[in-house]
Amino acid sequence: MTPPSLLHLFPHAKAGNPWAVDWPYLRKEVPHIWRSDARHTGYVTGNASVEEAACLYSFACQFSGRRGLEIGTHYGWTAAHLLAAGLRLDCIDPAIEDPQRRQDIIEVLDKVPGSVGYRLWDGFSPQCVDAVRAGAPEPWSFVFIDGNHDGDAPREDARAVLPHLAPDAMVVFHDLISPHVEAGLAVFRDAGFDTCLINTMQVLGVAWRGKVDPPVHIQDQNVPNLFLSHLDKYRRG
Ligand SMILES: C[S@@+](CC[C@H](N)C(=O)[O-])C[C@H]1O[C@@H](n2cnc3c(N)ncnc32)[C@H](O)[C@@H]1O
Repeated sequence: MTPPSLLHLFPHAKAGNPWAVDWPYLRKEVPHIWRSDARHTGYVTGNASVEEAACLYSFACQFSGRRGLEIGTHYGWTAAHLLAAGLRLDCIDPAIEDPQRRQDIIEVLDKVPGSVGYRLWDGFSPQCVDAVRAGAPEPWSFVFIDGNHDGDAPREDARAVLPHLAPDAMVVFHDLISPHVEAGLAVFRDAGFDTCLINTMQVLGVAWRGKVDPPVHIQDQNVPNLFLSHLDKYRRG
């Protein structure tokens, strides 16, 4: 399936200079466009790349009509792709508490073609995950984790999500370049899920179980190969 072109819904997502960002896990050498939202103030944070959003869309399509969760919605770029894939999406982000941010996200998500509905939750993961799950009887079939990247946070997100997954489910992390995020993927690996890495700009980590089509990705040959010791355990062959 061809990913939808949604960039026109995000006029504030501006291409930026990754070399000016001092987060140690931004892969500046990858020749893909790094965008951040011009309305955002304070600390620097970016959007997933176009390739990463396309991957999310194509991985999520097999769960169309089922319930999904995104942790870390920011301005809705990745959520828009998950909605376009047909997920009924719960979106968690503490920034949604700001009425302007909530409105900005709604204005975009309401324009996504193929959307079957979403709910915005202004809370912090992992603390609010149980309450969000209780918002509907169905467990989550697809989860995208891109919230707090520091310290134990990705691992705690993973632990909070694990009991709420459907028997056939997929979980995707953004930013596997960070060992803190890798610790989140390891929670699923240790729980018996299949796992793999997708070598995009920031590297996606994918875990799945049950009757699920494993992710397929043809690597852009311009993206450097991965030689990071914290990712060694995910290598195949
Ligand atoms: C890198 S941005 C997400 C980008 C987004 N997925 C995209 O590409 O469109 C990270 C987001 O996580 C949110 N965040 C930070 N801590 C969080 C937490 N504990 N739970 C949920 N979201 C959190 C931030 O407010 C921020 O909007």
